[in-house]
Amino acid sequence: MKVLKNIEETREEIIQVKKIGQRVGFVPTMGYLHKGHLSLVEKAVKENDYVAVSVFVNPTQFGPDEDYDRYPRAIKRDEKLLRKRGVDLLFYPHVQEMYPADYCTYVQVEELTETLCGASRPGHFQGVTTIVNKLFNIVGPDRAYFGQKDGQQFLIIEKMIKDLNMGVKVVPCPTVREEDGLALSSRNKYLDSRERRAATILYRTLQMVKERIDSGERDGLKIKKAMEDMVAREKLARLDYAAIVDRRNLKQVEKVKGPMMAALAVFIGDTRLIDNIWLEV
Ligand code: PAJ
Repeated sequence: MKVLKNIEETREEIIQVKKIGQRVGFVPTMGYLHKGHLSLVEKAVKENDYVAVSVFVNPTQFGPDEDYDRYPRAIKRDEKLLRKRGVDLLFYPHVQEMYPADYCTYVQVEELTETLCGASRPGHFQGVTTIVNKLFNIVGPDRAYFGQKDGQQFLIIEKMIKDLNMGVKVVPCPTVREEDGLALSSRNKYLDSRERRAATILYRTLQMVKERIDSGERDGLKIKKAMEDMVAREKLARLDYAAIVDRRNLKQVEKVKGPMMAALAVFIGDTRLIDNIWLEV
C-alpha cells in the first residue's frame, strides 16, 4: 500500500493506474477507523481493481464550537488496518495541502442541506461537499463508497454528483452496529459507561418507528411525536431533532409512503450522535 500526502503525486499514481485500464474504488474517511469504515473498504476491495482510501479530518465541516481539535486520530493504526485489507493507496494529506492560506472555493447543495443535521450544523454540509469534490478531483474514482449511517450526507453527495454531472458512481453501504444496536461511530469514544448504555436510545427509537409502521401507523407527525417522547424519557439524552422524511427532498412526511428515512440526532452528555433507518411503504 502506498501512503501519499501530496496531491500531485496522488494524481500521477492514479493516471498510471487508469492507463492500464484499472477501475478505481474510493472510500473517503476522517480516520480513527472502525468496523463501519472497514465494511466500506472491504466492499470497495471486492468490487474494484484498485482501491484508494483517504484519511483527512476536514476542518471546513466542523463548526467553531465543535470537536475538530479533539476528534480522535490514530493514523498508524488506520494504516495497518487498511494494509491488511488490501488497499492500494492511502491518501493522507496535511490541512495546508488541501486548504492553502488563499483557499476560497466552496460547493453548496441547496434545499437538502437546510434540514435535519444541516439546520443544527450550519455550514457543515458545505464543508462535506467541498472536500468530497476536491477528493474526487484528486483521486478520480469510478466508484465511491459511503455509509447509510450518515444518511443525509449520502443523499446530498448523490444529488451533488447528479447536479454537477460528475462521472462517479456512489455506492451506499449498510450501517454497521454494535450488538445492542448502537451504530459504530468514531464519536462513541467520547461516551463514559453510563452514557454508552443510554446511547442505545437512538436505535431503540428507530426500532419503535419501524414497529409502528409495520403495524399500520401512517400518520408521520404522530410517529415524529412518539420519537420525541421516547427520547425525552431517557434521562441522559437531549434531543436535537427527530423526523421521518421523504428521501427525495428530506421534508417531514405527513402521510407515511414512498422512500423514507427515519432520522434523529441526540446529545448524550456533550456527545452528539446521529442514526437513521431507511423505510419504504
Ligand atoms: P467519517 O465519519 O470518517 O465516515 C467515513 C465513511 O464511513 C462515511 O461514508 C460514513 O457514512 C461511513 N460510516 C461511518 N460509520 C459507519 C457505520 N457505523 N456503518 C457504516 N458506515 C459508516 O463521513 C465522513 O467521515 C466525512 O464527512 C467525509 C465523507 C469523509 C468527508 O469529510
